Amino acid sequence: MQSSFSKIEAISWTGTQLKLLDQQVLPNQIQYVLCSTAEDVAKAIQQMVVRGAPAIGVSAAYGVVLAAAVGQSINSLMATLDMLSAARPTAVNLRWAIERMRELINAHISSSADEQVTTLLKNKLMTEAVAIHQEDIVANKTMGQYGKQAILASLSEARKVSVMTHCNTGALATSGYGTALGVIRALAEADELSQVWVNETRPWLQGARLTAWELTQEKIPFVLGVDGAAAYHMATNKIDWVIVGADRITANGDTANKIGTYGLALLAHHHGCKFMVVAPSSTVDMSLTSGEEIDIEYRESNELIMLGDKMLAPENTSVSNPVFDVTPASLIDMIVTERGVIENPTQAKMQQLFC
Ligand code: MRU
Repeated sequence: MQSSFSKIEAISWTGTQLKLLDQQVLPNQIQYVLCSTAEDVAKAIQQMVVRGAPAIGVSAAYGVVLAAAVGQSINSLMATLDMLSAARPTAVNLRWAIERMRELINAHISSSADEQVTTLLKNKLMTEAVAIHQEDIVANKTMGQYGKQAILASLSEARKVSVMTHCNTGALATSGYGTALGVIRALAEADELSQVWVNETRPWLQGARLTAWELTQEKIPFVLGVDGAAAYHMATNKIDWVIVGADRITANGDTANKIGTYGLALLAHHHGCKFMVVAPSSTVDMSLTSGEEIDIEYRESNELIMLGDKMLAPENTSVSNPVFDVTPASLIDMIVTERGVIENPTQAKMQQLFC
């Protein structure tokens, strides 16, 4: 099967602005948001016009380019980097991209006496943002192949595989191709896929609105289910692998990802399904020893109690809306990165690949 993934371009640079495919309104509308300032980019990240760990890192890098274009002082540029870095807390890719841009600025100022942003620095920042963008696509394609090979090698007989995925980890969440969805794409391209089970992913419906849309674009057959049906689907169908992305992987392999991922890992363990996390090295945070240290984002109650302009629960209902959870490494069979694959992750194995 030939993939048409390149048709989905969630992030692009127009030459003067960052163009984002608005993920708040998909699949009903194909609409773009143009960001002219770093503040526009931070707002787009907070409001989830752009979302998904790698995609928000790439967008933030272009946000730095937009900030530099104004020709401000280096000091105020640095303050803008902090503002962008704080747009969302859990996905480490955001901070990782900003730190890459910061290092470049630091290297520039240590070799020159400039206090204002110069054309040379602007050009360097542009080149770096494009590199972050392009490297992510390359990493995704590599992970797609690694993940596909690992899944095919795990089968005791030659047959097509059935997988379940959560949230959206495709071209919309990355620079292109996708992480977990990249592995699913690679399996589809090799005609090795029998079924994709897509969880709707309450409350923001990344599975229903975005993954279902991407798979439809790619003509990859799938079945959509409510999150609460995952156990039933695992119990009543042969699901070989649950494949998910990540927002942050700590030094022991614990993984933060979209709320519901931890529950899926527990269910997979019970039902004998394998559990795979697919994420680029920019999602790995070796500075945190375990998942307990990850800052989990909580979002507003309206995401739960409203659907458009309709109330789903009584007004003033007290709500808890953590949008990520942490899956312990002990429940993960495999972490796939562009640097290689880790089976049954431990701190020692993580260190070998990432230190
Ligand atoms: O809140 P979101 O939609 O940004 O959450 C996204 C996820 O949890 C993804 O699984 C993760 O960022 C990996 S995307 C390749």
